Amino acid sequence: MSSLVIGSADEIGLGEVRSVQVRLGTEPEVIGEPEEQGPPGTTAIVVAHTEDGQWFALNDVCSHGPVLLSEGDFEGCTLECWGHGSRFDLATGVPQNLPADQPVATYPVAIEDGQVVIEIGQDSHDQA
Ligand code: FES
Repeated sequence: MSSLVIGSADEIGLGEVRSVQVRLGTEPEVIGEPEEQGPPGTTAIVVAHTEDGQWFALNDVCSHGPVLLSEGDFEGCTLECWGHGSRFDLATGVPQNLPADQPVATYPVAIEDGQVVIEIGQDSHDQA
């Protein structure tokens, strides 16, 4: 499990999301803007700050197709894919409606010294 700083918590207001492309591995790093189909060994991860102050992080690419969830409608504790309308639960990554029928990975989030930090390698869907 590795910690990764996504950015300053001050820069992600209530009801806002921030998405970045992350190189995975033993020392994950942010490598730039999110991509629907990034280079091998990378993934887009979105951090969401809900209107009531909760923080969530999940894989930003819809499980149904190459669409960034961060570009969809953010409501409550859900993000809606603009591709075909599946709405994903931010806490679990599970889609609440078809056509997506597979969850996206989620990551623990903490605010440490004003920074948004996620833990990679402990996502809720592929733990060993
Ligand atoms: S691409 Fe997201 S629901 Fe189809």
